[in-house]
Amino acid sequence: MLDRIDEVLEEINLFTANSNNEVEDFRLRFVGKKSVINELFEEFKSVPMEQKRELGPALNKLKNQAQQKLIELSDGLISKSNKREAEIDVTLPPIHNAEGSIHPISQTKNRIIEIFERQGFNVEDGPEIDNDWNNFTALNFPENHPAREMQDTYFIEKDPDVLLRTHTSNVQIRLMNKKKPPIRSIMPGRVFRNEAISARAHCFFHQVEGLCIGEHISFKDLKNTLYYFSREMFGKETKIRLRPSYFPFTEPSAEIDISCFICGGSGCKICKKTGWVEIAGSGMVDPNVLENCGIDSTKYSGFAFGMGIERITMLKYELDDLRLFSENDLRFLKQF
Ligand code: DAH
Repeated sequence: MLDRIDEVLEEINLFTANSNNEVEDFRLRFVGKKSVINELFEEFKSVPMEQKRELGPALNKLKNQAQQKLIELSDGLISKSNKREAEIDVTLPPIHNAEGSIHPISQTKNRIIEIFERQGFNVEDGPEIDNDWNNFTALNFPENHPAREMQDTYFIEKDPDVLLRTHTSNVQIRLMNKKKPPIRSIMPGRVFRNEAISARAHCFFHQVEGLCIGEHISFKDLKNTLYYFSREMFGKETKIRLRPSYFPFTEPSAEIDISCFICGGSGCKICKKTGWVEIAGSGMVDPNVLENCGIDSTKYSGFAFGMGIERITMLKYELDDLRLFSENDLRFLKQF
């Protein structure tokens, strides 16, 4: 039995542990209830009396050694992990989280919303995928009328009645169908056109639609609303000019120009030497459109307008390439 005790002692001395699991293995093998040492104590009960005197102290010593070693092994692990922590240099400067910024299109959109909200407009939303009625027919685009060609449309192949909206004017129709006057809303959103991508055109861009319907709403209200907007957006000296135009859904229609805020009207690259830049289409809502939405056109009238958010942003920041907005180039985006 003495030999057996020596063997176990040697095993204990040689044992090393690199993980909690290995320390636990040691405990089970030498310290726990079913350990080899406890087995030896069981055997000890039946050895003759003369041998007990010698074996007893040896066995007790073995037991103490095992307990001592268990403490050493777990302490060793703790100091190892402390050492790893000490290897981390807490004095190094931190790596900053890369903070995102609000996209310039969203910034302009938010600013437009803010200005119109101050004039009592609320914000409405509508779908990007719509039908022919909401995008064209109800807006007084006659069937097969060349006006539909003004906007190259993406149709859904399976059902030509379904399309990607070419303008946010579809929300006018949806709004007037669900809500009766007075209406004073703006409708920002994304629109799609089948155009070759270039510095001046893209297959998708953003618009803000405006609609104001009530009793006694006149052209004067349209002019005043957009004059206020232009001065807030481009500066107090800004003047506006209305140019006769054509849209199927408004009569009369007008293009809104603002005096060039770069050169103050004397002529530069941005305004192509005219002193004026176009910012929106507008007009008095055609009575046919009101009637298409179940609104009595003899009682109610109203104005509408639509502007491109990319265009407003490009003017404001003097940008000359529409593609910058959708290329996700951080060198560009970080400047806003
Ligand atoms: N829907 C027109 C377009 O995309 C913009 C527009 C012009 C909207 C006149 C209007 C408006 O509401 O009255 O070109």
